[in-house]
Amino acid sequence: MIIKDCRFLISAVSSSQYPEGNLPEIAFAGRSNVGKSSLINSLLNRKKLVKVSSNPGKTRTINFFMINEELVLVDLPGYGYAAVSKAEKLKWASMIEEYLIKRENLKSVVLLVDIRHKPTSDDKMMYDFIKHYRGRAVIVATKRDKISNNAVFKNIKIIKETLGTDERDIIIPYSSETHSGKEELWEEIVRSIQQ
Ligand code: GTP
Ligand code: MG
Repeated sequence: MIIKDCRFLISAVSSSQYPEGNLPEIAFAGRSNVGKSSLINSLLNRKKLVKVSSNPGKTRTINFFMINEELVLVDLPGYGYAAVSKAEKLKWASMIEEYLIKRENLKSVVLLVDIRHKPTSDDKMMYDFIKHYRGRAVIVATKRDKISNNAVFKNIKIIKETLGTDERDIIIPYSSETHSGKEELWEEIVRSIQQ
C-alpha cells in the first residue's frame, strides 16, 4: 500500500460522532499497551500521527484516521486495563462494543495480542466476538522484536491454542520498531476492503 496522505479525522465516544460517508474502515482492538496506536503509526510510516504511551490506557476514545481519502483506520481504546474504575471500564467496553456491532463501514477487526504473553480471558472474549460477527480473525502478535527468532514459533503456537484459532484465521508476527510483518498485514487489509 502506498500512503499518499493520511490525517487524523475525529475522536468519538458514541455513534453520533462517527465520520459520515461509507468509506471502508479497519479497526484495531486489543488490551491496553499491546501496541495498537504504534501499529497504526508503523503501517502509515509515521512516528507521531497517533499518540503512543508506555503507560496503559493512553487511547480513551475511538480515533479515526483517513488514508488516501479511500480507507479509514480506527484506533480503539484498549481493554483489560486494571488501574481504572469499574465504571470507566464499563464505559469503554460499551463504547467498543457499540462500534464493533453497529458500524456498517467496518470491514475487518484486527485483534492484537502481545507475542510474549499467553492471551488473557479478555483476549479470548474479543476473539470469540470477532469470530461470531465476522467468521474470520486477523490476529497481529505485537512486539516481535522483543523475543528471539526461536521463541516466535513457540509463542505463536501458544497464542493459537489459547485463542482456539482455526485454519481460516491468520496470525501475523509484527514489530512496530522494525516494521516486520507490515507487507503481510497491508495485504490482509487491502483484501478485506476489496471484499
Ligand atoms: P492503549 O492506547 O493504552 O490501549 O495502548 P496501545 O495498544 O495503543 O499501545 P501503544 O501503541 O501506546 O504502545 C504501548 C507501548 O508499547 C509503548 O511504549 C510503545 O512504544 C510500545 N510498543 C508498541 N509496539 C511495539 C513494538 O512492536 N515493539 C516494541 N519494542 N515496543 C512496542
Ligand atoms: Mg493507544
